[in-house]
Amino acid sequence: MKLYEQVAAELSLRIEQGYYRGNDRLPSIRALSREHGVSIATVQEAYRLLEDQGLVQPKPKSGYYVRPRPLTPQMPEISRPAQRPLEVSHWEHVLDLLCASEAPGILALGRGMPDISATTLKPLLRALSEGKRRDGLRGFSYDSLRGSPELRQQVARLTIDSGCQLHPDDIVITTGCQEALSTSMRAVTRPGDVVAVDSPSFYGSMQAIKAFGLKAMEIPTDPVQGISLEALELALEQWPIRAIQVTPTCNNPLGYTMPEIRRRQLVTLAQRFDVAIIEDDIYGDLSFAFPRPNTIKSFDSDGRVLLCSSFSKTLAPGLRVGWVAPGRYGDQVLHMKYVGTAACATLPQLAVAEFIAQGSYERHLRRMRAQYLQGRDHMIAAVERYFPAGTRISYPQGGFLLWVELPGDIDTLQLNDRLQSSAIRIGPGVLFSASGKYRNCMRLNYSAKPTEAIEHALQTIGELCIRMLREIDRVA
Ligand SMILES: Cc1ncc(COP(=O)(O)O)c(C=O)c1O
Repeated sequence: MKLYEQVAAELSLRIEQGYYRGNDRLPSIRALSREHGVSIATVQEAYRLLEDQGLVQPKPKSGYYVRPRPLTPQMPEISRPAQRPLEVSHWEHVLDLLCASEAPGILALGRGMPDISATTLKPLLRALSEGKRRDGLRGFSYDSLRGSPELRQQVARLTIDSGCQLHPDDIVITTGCQEALSTSMRAVTRPGDVVAVDSPSFYGSMQAIKAFGLKAMEIPTDPVQGISLEALELALEQWPIRAIQVTPTCNNPLGYTMPEIRRRQLVTLAQRFDVAIIEDDIYGDLSFAFPRPNTIKSFDSDGRVLLCSSFSKTLAPGLRVGWVAPGRYGDQVLHMKYVGTAACATLPQLAVAEFIAQGSYERHLRRMRAQYLQGRDHMIAAVERYFPAGTRISYPQGGFLLWVELPGDIDTLQLNDRLQSSAIRIGPGVLFSASGKYRNCMRLNYSAKPTEAIEHALQTIGELCIRMLREIDRVA
C-alpha cells in the first residue's frame, strides 16, 4: 500500500468508527502531515482519494469535512427462532451452495469467499514457492500434531491484538476453521447434548452439530448487539446445554460485533452454568474498527473458551490453515485432531508463518479492510436501489458478508433456482437455521471490487424479487 493510501485508510477507519461524524471538520493537511510524518503532497493525495471514495468533501478556504452518510437502511429485527433444541436439517442445501458455486461462469454471490487477487498476497505466493529452498525436505515430512512451532508463535503474537496472552503451546493448528470448530465441538460434547447457537448461524458449525448427533438450541440474536443474553440465560435454566457456540466479531451472516460489556457478561453466564464457549473469530482481523475488538477468550479466566480461527478469510481459504486455542480442553481437542486429520499439511503453515513474520499480514489486512469497507457501502447502496421497498439490510462491522431480509413471503430457495438461468447464486437464508427459518433472507458477498457485472447481478436479483412479490400478491 502506498503512503497516501495508508493515510487515507487510517482516516476512513476513524470515520467508520464514528470518531469523526457527518459534517465534522477533519484535521488540516499540515496537522496530518505532522501526525503521520509524511509530506503535504501525500496528505493532499490521501484526501483526494477519500473524496473519490465519497467519504469526505472539501469546503473552500476551510478544509475537508466528513460527507454525511445517506440514511442507513432499516436493519433486520431481532431473530425469533424456535424455543426448543432441534436437530439440524438442510444439509442438501448446504451441499448445493458449496457445489453449485464451483461451476465455471457462475457469479457466486452467496459464498464466503474473500478477494484473493490482491497484490499484497504476492509475498505469500513467494513464500510457498520458495519452501523447498528454505526448508529443504521438511515440507514433505509429518508436522508435529500441534502444528509447526513457527506458525504457533506467530499466531500467539497475533492474538495479543485481540487482548489475549497465549503461549505458542496453547495453540493447535488445524485444517481450516471448520476443523477447529468441529474438533472443539466433539471435545466438549457427547451425542445427544444440546449446543446453544446464535441465530442465524454459520451453516458449517450447525452441520457439525448435526453430524455429531447433537441438538441446536437457536437463541434470538440482535443484528447490532449479537446473541440475546437474556434469552440464553432462560435457555440455560431450562435445557441441558453443554456448550455455547458464537461468532461475536463481524458475525457471519449478520455482520454485527458484540459490545465488549456483553462479551464479559457471556463469560460470567457460562461460568455460572459451567458450560464451554466455542468462539469463532474467523472474521475478527477484518474488523473495520481499529484496534480490532478483544475476543471473548481475552476475558476467560478459567480456560472454558475454545477460540477458533483460520487464515481462510484474511488470506485465502485454499491454504487450509486454521487454529484453535482450546484452553482447558487441550487434551480432548488434540485427541479429536489426531483421529480427524492427525497432522496438518506442513508447507502452507511455514509459508503463512513467514508471511506474518515479514509484516506482510498486517499490510494485507490494512488493504483488505479498506476494500471491504468500500464494498459494503457500495453493495448496501445497490440493494437499496434495486430491491423491493421494505427490504431490510444488515450493517456489517467488518468482513465481507451482507444479510438481506426481503419483504413478504419471497422464498430465497426459489429465488436461487430462478436465478440459475442468469448464472447468479445467492446464499439462501434457510442454510443459517436449524429449523428452516429465514426463508425470506439471503446472504450476499461484497469481497470483490465493485464491477458492472456485480451491479447488473444485483439489479437482476432485485427485479426478480419484485416480480416474485407481485406473483405472491396475485395468488393471495
Ligand atoms: C463463520 C465461519 N466459521 C468457519 C468457517 C470455515 O472456515 P475454513 O474455511 O477456515 O474452514 C467459515 C467459512 O465460511 C465461516 O464463515
